[in-house]
Amino acid sequence: MTHTEVDSAARRRLAAMLENLSPLPPDPILGTTVACRNDPNPSKVDLGVGVYKDASGNTPVFEAVAEAERRVLADQTTKVYVSPPGDERFIGGITRHLFGADHQVVTDGRVGAVQAPGGSGALRVGAGLLLRAQAHTELWVSTPTWGNHVPLLGAAGLDMQHYPYYDKGAHEIQFDEMVQTLKERGPGDVVLLHGCCHNPCGADLTHEQWDVVGDLADERGFTPYVDLAYHGLGEGMDADAYGVRMLADRLPEMLVSYSASKNFGLYRERTGLAFTVNATAEGAKTDTSQMANIARELYSMPPAHGASIVGEILADEELTTLWQDEVATMRERINGLRALLSDELREATQTTEFDYIAGERGMFSFLGLSPEQVTQLQAEHSVYPIPSSRINIAGVTEENVDYVARSIAAVV
Ligand code: LMR
Repeated sequence: MTHTEVDSAARRRLAAMLENLSPLPPDPILGTTVACRNDPNPSKVDLGVGVYKDASGNTPVFEAVAEAERRVLADQTTKVYVSPPGDERFIGGITRHLFGADHQVVTDGRVGAVQAPGGSGALRVGAGLLLRAQAHTELWVSTPTWGNHVPLLGAAGLDMQHYPYYDKGAHEIQFDEMVQTLKERGPGDVVLLHGCCHNPCGADLTHEQWDVVGDLADERGFTPYVDLAYHGLGEGMDADAYGVRMLADRLPEMLVSYSASKNFGLYRERTGLAFTVNATAEGAKTDTSQMANIARELYSMPPAHGASIVGEILADEELTTLWQDEVATMRERINGLRALLSDELREATQTTEFDYIAGERGMFSFLGLSPEQVTQLQAEHSVYPIPSSRINIAGVTEENVDYVARSIAAVV
């Protein structure tokens, strides 16, 4: 056989294996943005993927990020790998901002941490840790939850279970039902909680409700796993960390997955952190070494750029203040848009049906539309929620809000 014949025989064998695969439909969240991008209508509005937009519809680079990036690039002397757990300034900075520098778990060294590629990478590392600790682990997620929680964490090997959380018709948290389900959990069960700005429904636990969940975790012995992807975009830096800090106060153990995608605007830099709180400092070191080893199996080592930018910001008081001001501006703008959209919907529908939008927090709310109504909104009005009827409030602008409200009114 000549070389060419060997090559084509190998290619045939490969095709015979890969031909068992079928193409998949686009991801429900990411595909919505692609569909909108391909829509030629100049009035189109992308309410899909959760990215922040300013009044002109742009997703700007934070000033603090641009300045930190200039400094990082000016000082950079090498591109060698970062250490397996990741950038120390990044990890230290986020640890202090999340838990508070004086929190007992920080001063006692009871926090384990590794840098991860985005909040999603952090979730995957956390899942790996849970499965190393206990080969069969049930992870309880809210109904509804972020569209990628079940695919990502289920594919990691966790046994995905669901607790009631939000009544889409009444636009309320089903707290009694949630508590009922959590009362039946015990040691070895893990409960995933959205730290703030619940994705997809925008309805967050009050501090009193967090306390009840903390008491339940303490009494029943289940382990909380907090996903915090919107720190600072709900009520403020400290208020949004309430759940994490309270659980860390009360419980010997918990996990946190942290994303810097939204609150530093670093989306494509894949900048996140997987945390544990452990009963002892020794245990936290074990967690870190295990998580670094899990990362080694998955993607070897974390990307450097985003983390070095965040590390630079948090090591500098002036840049930290600038960043916090920028986050506050985003938060106030989103909350302002919520009020504006709910007013416009009141006028367009002549009902109070959408008033709840003003009181929810973070980037998302549900419109409560059927899949057919969502399709109609996209096809006839070029307004693009994701198929579940979740909208990204930050996709609304002062300029398009009237059009968005009238389009929604036309399909309800
Ligand atoms: C979203 O929910 O839109 C964001 O978290 C982005 C993503 O990856 O889905």
